[in-house]
Amino acid sequence: MCGIVGYVGPRNAVPLLLEGMQRLEYRGYDSAGVAVRQADGRLAVRKRVGRLANLEEALETEPLAGQLGIGHTRWATHGEPSEVNSHPHVDCAGNIAAVHNGIIENYLALRSDLEAKGHVFRSQTDTEVIPHLIEELLKDGAVSRSAAIRQALRQAQGAYALGIVFRDEPAVLYAARCGSPLIVGVGEGEQFIASDVPAILNRVKQVIYLNDGEVAELRPAGVAMAKLDGTPVQPEIKTVTLRAEAAERAGFETFMLKEIHEQPRVLRTMLETHVGKDGAVNLGEVSDLLAAEAAGLQRIVILACGTAYYAGMYGRLLLEAWAGIPCETDLGSEFRYRHPRLPERTLVVAVSQSGETADTLASVRLARRMECKVVGICNVAGSTLLRESDGGLLTQAGPEIGVASTKAFSAQLLAFALLAIRLARLRGAMDAARERELTAALARIPDGIHRVLERQDDVRRISQKYYECYNALYLGRRFNYPIALEGALKNKEISYQHAEGYAAGEMKHGPIALINEFLPVVCLCTPTADEVRDKMVSNLKEVEARKGRIIAVAAEGDATLQGLAQDVIPVPETIEEFSPLINVVALQLFAYYNAKLRGADIDKPRNLAKSVTVE
Ligand code: AGP
Repeated sequence: MCGIVGYVGPRNAVPLLLEGMQRLEYRGYDSAGVAVRQADGRLAVRKRVGRLANLEEALETEPLAGQLGIGHTRWATHGEPSEVNSHPHVDCAGNIAAVHNGIIENYLALRSDLEAKGHVFRSQTDTEVIPHLIEELLKDGAVSRSAAIRQALRQAQGAYALGIVFRDEPAVLYAARCGSPLIVGVGEGEQFIASDVPAILNRVKQVIYLNDGEVAELRPAGVAMAKLDGTPVQPEIKTVTLRAEAAERAGFETFMLKEIHEQPRVLRTMLETHVGKDGAVNLGEVSDLLAAEAAGLQRIVILACGTAYYAGMYGRLLLEAWAGIPCETDLGSEFRYRHPRLPERTLVVAVSQSGETADTLASVRLARRMECKVVGICNVAGSTLLRESDGGLLTQAGPEIGVASTKAFSAQLLAFALLAIRLARLRGAMDAARERELTAALARIPDGIHRVLERQDDVRRISQKYYECYNALYLGRRFNYPIALEGALKNKEISYQHAEGYAAGEMKHGPIALINEFLPVVCLCTPTADEVRDKMVSNLKEVEARKGRIIAVAAEGDATLQGLAQDVIPVPETIEEFSPLINVVALQLFAYYNAKLRGADIDKPRNLAKSVTVE
């Protein structure tokens, strides 16, 4: 989704804006632009369609310089990707420039009203109403600029994060937020705004997370904030603990490969944080919330989108099996419109890597209106989800820059395992000995993942046989059914190879029609001994009988699978419940090499956005 950067201070804004925009590229974008208040008094705007490099080239040919500026990477919603639709947008006189992330839903009404008053619009965007509206409100000189911004935003409906600059106010940068993320970076004698922390991580260590309905006025010396009605707000400055290197590639060819390799460390960190020496799980404030809710809990509803939804499907199985609570998983985009009926004492668990996904947040707000308590599982400290939850469980994966989620997903799986153990213990459904047994098994998972990572060249060789296929089918059962869905999603996201994830038992109800000698069928076959193992082998036989090309993720030394599959990715065994944590890594690598061999832009797949902040 769109990315925003802004700067006010003593330095030239342009390189700082470009650096921040580069760090926001991962969010997904189709065009980019900057507005800079130059020393000659002009507010100059440059925009280019396509990669940021195009804008950088334009700025080399015709350089800009100034100590106040805003930059934007656009992911088109209203109006095709084009120079005229790129941000920043300006008012009629070119005195006010704005960058925006979100959607102004009543823009058509605002626009026709402004056009009737003589304003001339150049783009098809919803954003352009903002500078024109501010221009209109400032026309008779009766209000200050900040009052005009607040007044304009009281009229705008929808979601926004905004950066606004004025030609004749060379040392003030305005920022506002409602529903789309925006932070202020507090420096010494200089201030920044950005859509997220990694964008300015190497520039500031202190940040202010803007809340919905707040407008900030940034001057080099400091930040003043107010609500939309003008009531002053005391800025709450937080120190960022992330290290700048966390958002670097660290010698890996892509962020995604780096993030796949970080998984053992991520899981170890989470286990160190949440599992005591006695093997007991402690989830901090979430433990307290669960302790208060556990006994009378009627139902758990897990809400999420995309990959996080698959983590939720896995979580549901564990919560029902161990804590014995009826549990359902729903997509954020469906739950919010399905008029849900929830019994009293329903606990909502919302899962989101970014914590800014519009549909997940809207569902959380709906659930809160229905008086549900909300646990947020999220990878971004200070995110909207964590701030709006009753209890937050921070997955400690560190910044995930690759658009396709990998380490954040594994961290979500682990978060659910820990949550289910804690809840089961609180409800007396699990004893301490079983808890110790499970946490001991979890402690062995990072080494298991290492073993899979050591085989990445073997996985690459397998991909070499299949990357040119048009379709692929992914099959799994029970705990590995969500992993089949996730493996298929990963493959289509980054390699653009069409892939379907299916519950293996469902195969004969339709997709079996697809099977022939050209279709790769990726099967999740660990562990070797569990209730569904024989069923899985039968499903593989059905594929074999129709000449499908079986790629099995199977336990090291599993002779049955060696005989059945064309290709085997051997993985170490663990208990069935935790096998997804290991198996998913094999599928991430398989998708990765398919994408690499197909020449795809792995970290920035076409059309995708890292954080989907609109519906
Ligand atoms: C993950 O690979 C995807 N890019 C996407 O499905 C993602 O999981 C989804 O948009 C939800 O994002 P969130 O976790 O930030 O809420």
